Amino acid sequence: MRILVTGAAGFIGSHLVEALLRRGDHVIGLDNFNDYYDPRRKQANLSAVRGHPRFTFYHADIRDAGYVDQIVSQHRPDVIAHLAAMAGVRYSIGRAGLYTDVNIRGTVNLLEAARLCGVSHFVFASTSSVYGETTRIPFVESDPCNYPLAPYPASKKAGEIIGHTYWQLHSLHFTALRFFSVYGPRGRPDMMPYSVIDCAVRGKPIQLFDGGRMRRDWTYVDDIVAGVIAALERPLGYAIINLGRGSPVWMSDFVEIIAQLVGKEVLVTEVPAPPSEPKINYADISKARELLGYEPRTAVTDGLAEMWRWYRREVMLDEGH
Ligand SMILES: NC(=O)c1ccc[n+]([C@@H]2O[C@H](COP(=O)([O-])OP(=O)(O)OC[C@H]3O[C@@H](n4cnc5c(N)ncnc54)[C@H](O)[C@@H]3O)[C@@H](O)[C@H]2O)c1
Repeated sequence: MRILVTGAAGFIGSHLVEALLRRGDHVIGLDNFNDYYDPRRKQANLSAVRGHPRFTFYHADIRDAGYVDQIVSQHRPDVIAHLAAMAGVRYSIGRAGLYTDVNIRGTVNLLEAARLCGVSHFVFASTSSVYGETTRIPFVESDPCNYPLAPYPASKKAGEIIGHTYWQLHSLHFTALRFFSVYGPRGRPDMMPYSVIDCAVRGKPIQLFDGGRMRRDWTYVDDIVAGVIAALERPLGYAIINLGRGSPVWMSDFVEIIAQLVGKEVLVTEVPAPPSEPKINYADISKARELLGYEPRTAVTDGLAEMWRWYRREVMLDEGH
């Protein structure tokens, strides 16, 4: 297949690019290397694939409709894996304009380019955050999800909705995958797994919401990538599918696993959870199992051990620890 991956230099995007190249696919990647976190990390994420004969990369911004059109019309991908986004929940508060621009207008630019160039299938990275404070637990795709708690999930929900229009009017197959709390090597530094490891190593305290009495359905990046690839291979008309592990972990237990791995006590400052943070996310993954043959394989202890190995190799060594 010929696949355009947006957000190719990001955490999940760079793992997806590598997995697709391993399979023999042709991959066109794009990313704007924004500075939401250190762009040098994003450059490093691509180091293993730069120069690969089946990989073409563009430093491009999805808000630039003309450039997006040019890339899509030149390469005519079979399918677009749209992962580029402003992704932080709390960072989105007070920045609704930026999130609207990137996550909604940028998505529309890609959908338009897909329509005009005859792309047949579009896979969209959505999020478990669209479920907000729902009382239907585990989270199931038939929940209307009309009450997102921050601009980020609101912008992702908008992407899911506009995707339906493109399926309805232009027969562009559209699959929205709702990722649940993804972690692993190259994990985003603004997310809990990275910051807990980093603070443990440096002996700095972490802020733990509600004393760790929150649960998250931590899902290892390789399992997410397997789900994305299964979705890329299967046009389903219009579909919304959870990709999680289906087994939430208390934050206090999660921190304890990291403390064991790092071999240091994790210093904790307890703070109340902000209103943008639901008490739990928990995926019902039966639809992913049925439609995609999805089966998450990685236990949280194993995934965190892998992430810790990566941190020691890439972050600690790089900083000369
Ligand atoms: N990591 C998670 O737990 C998680 C959970 C749910 C959903 N998601 C979604 O998965 C996708 C990937 O997330 P990630 O964790 O890898 O984040 P990430 O920030 O590492 O990756 C996103 C990439 O998109 C790029 N990007 C941002 N704005 C862009 C623009 N205007 N033009 C081109 N590129 C742009 C960034 O530079 C970055 O490399 C995102 O859509 C995110 O919303 C992630």
